Amino acid sequence: MTPVADLTEAEAVQELTRLADEITRHDLAYHQDDAPLVSDADYDALKRRNLDIEDRFPHLIRENSPSMRVGAPRAEQFSPVTHGTPMLSLDNAFSDEDALEFDTRIRRFLKLDETPIAYTAEPKIDGLSASIRYEKGVLVQGATRGDGRVGEDVTANLRTIKDIPHKLSGSGWPEVIEVRGEVYLGHAEFAALNAAATEAGDKTYANPRNAAAGSLRQIDSTVTAKRPLKFFAYAWGLLSEKFADSQWEALEKLKSWGFQTTPQSTCVHGAEGLLAAYATLEAERPNLGYDIDGVVYKVDNLDWQRRLGFVSRAPRWGIARKFPAEQARTVLEAIDFQVGRTGAVTPVARLRPVTVGGVSVTNATLHNGDEIARKDLRVGDTVIVQRAGDVIPQIVAPILEARPEGAEPFEFPTHCPCPLKTPLARETTASGAETVVRRCTGELACPFQRIEHLKHFVSRRAFDIEGLGEKQLQAFFDDGMIKEPADIFLLEENDKVSLKKLKDRERAGETSVANLFAAIESRRDIALDRFIYGLGVRHIGEQTALVMARGYGTAEAFLEAMDKVAARDPEAIAELDALDQIGGAVIEAAAAFFAEDHNRGMVDRLYRQLRVQEAEKPKTDTAVAGKTVVFTGALERMTRDEAKAQAEALGAKVSSSVSKKTDLVVAGPGAGSKLKTATELGIAVMTEDEWLAMVAG
Ligand code: IVH
Repeated sequence: MTPVADLTEAEAVQELTRLADEITRHDLAYHQDDAPLVSDADYDALKRRNLDIEDRFPHLIRENSPSMRVGAPRAEQFSPVTHGTPMLSLDNAFSDEDALEFDTRIRRFLKLDETPIAYTAEPKIDGLSASIRYEKGVLVQGATRGDGRVGEDVTANLRTIKDIPHKLSGSGWPEVIEVRGEVYLGHAEFAALNAAATEAGDKTYANPRNAAAGSLRQIDSTVTAKRPLKFFAYAWGLLSEKFADSQWEALEKLKSWGFQTTPQSTCVHGAEGLLAAYATLEAERPNLGYDIDGVVYKVDNLDWQRRLGFVSRAPRWGIARKFPAEQARTVLEAIDFQVGRTGAVTPVARLRPVTVGGVSVTNATLHNGDEIARKDLRVGDTVIVQRAGDVIPQIVAPILEARPEGAEPFEFPTHCPCPLKTPLARETTASGAETVVRRCTGELACPFQRIEHLKHFVSRRAFDIEGLGEKQLQAFFDDGMIKEPADIFLLEENDKVSLKKLKDRERAGETSVANLFAAIESRRDIALDRFIYGLGVRHIGEQTALVMARGYGTAEAFLEAMDKVAARDPEAIAELDALDQIGGAVIEAAAAFFAEDHNRGMVDRLYRQLRVQEAEKPKTDTAVAGKTVVFTGALERMTRDEAKAQAEALGAKVSSSVSKKTDLVVAGPGAGSKLKTATELGIAVMTEDEWLAMVAG
């Protein structure tokens, strides 16, 4: 790669465009899908290069440059919440020198003498930040950070977290306050969650942070409630009045109102204090039970913080001193390939076992072929492996001096590693650009995709068949007893021979086989959304399946519509498109899936085994059917969740923000800006009692 100092202006323009695209793609994968494509270190390198080029050519800074944003836009399935004050990020420091310079900078800016400055030193929790709004001490709304300005409304999900009080205790809280902090998952809870997912054949999370993000950003808050998420409060956004003079006092107050604050936080003095706090936390890090990726230093005095203010997207008064990643050297012995449910072929590095940060590492993800090419990794290379707070280790780079003679550049296979050896194809985006993903084109003919598909089918959120976990399923698959979902329901009736095999293999008594058959039998009655989700069509996740189920009502209507969509019937496509939150990607995926004969056959054979229940269609004959309703202020006769559920059951759509599209605002005591907007826009407003009377009548 050309060093930044040698770039011509024309090359710089090209590089900035490329970097903007690539960083956006990673941002989306990370923030919206909770599934990063590259390691944190590689991502930081891209951002760093973007910044370096912008430093050299400031006039080329793009309006939408990655350096101007924090995070990614919110995902569409959540309503937008505009933060009262933006949620910003912190600049990073990587060395003692950086930390000392931070202290010098502040002293210079404030024109202070030699008296050591007081700072708080707080663990930098590796989770995702959230902002929770309290009005008159009552939790009214909670949001993710989103792009920093507008986040996602995850109120119901945040309410399920035990560390987040629904009502503030004690006294002295401002009438309105946005409490900010980090939602995270402990190591033990993370391990248990992944173990359960593996057992159920579900996708596992790469690290506790992604697991926390994935758990918080669930459409269904009862799913979040089952995840043991935790929360540390460490900051605030909008305030109706000042409540503390120092960060330390603020942390004490937050604690007295019922929040958890990090017990390792300290108040230190001067540059020496900063360095000592870092060393202490680094030593405590392995025993905390949750991931931290550095120390956050903040000027303690809040008046000084106000004077220091912000530079573009980060405060001048704070900085994050990051821990270095833990690294080790080992040999890359082989590169294997895994084929996922939808055919994506992912390379995996097989490593000579080595201990990194106390954990033995034998595999590392390589993400995709482009990454192998970019790093020029070759089998036989000695490589640097790192774990940067992540559970899945990454390969940083090969050590070129140690490269064995004759090591060949790596070539990505052109065919699937499965026995069918189907050709691989590069995936393209809607606009026709090639992506880094290579897919096996064999679909369900490919045994590797078939087994992944079956694992998905029996997973917890799909058919959830007790006693048929990943291991058992693999055994049935290897024996040829289960080749496709319908076979599961035919096991007992068809396969007396296999039954005997099963009993031998499991050495299970009569009862456990009987239990398995009972579990399978009980799943013949299945909810329509689970049926749709279980089919494993690309882009049809749990939420989309639910929307489709509600939209079509019955399996017959759903299948009939899908056949028409596959035949590109414009009316059927328009009908699908009109469903809430469904767009081009889902339509394309559904059309492609149902147009394939073997997929259609698979669905039919399965359908014949089932009694798919009707989904409840949203009501159309109520006073609020089809209307968009916003609840604001404190509700006294029902919880927000109840209000939302009640409105939705009556066919209304509940939104968290007032816009021209809002039809009705139900305002309780303490309603603020939303009520004001509603009045300005001339939107109908009613009290909670009036609402209850209306829906009852
Ligand atoms: S204060 C203006 N304190 O680190 C930003 N952030 O890089 C105020 N974080 O977005 C943030 N622990 O997600 C702050 N004790 C702590 C933190 C912390 C973790 C995260 C947070 C923030 C990011 C900044």
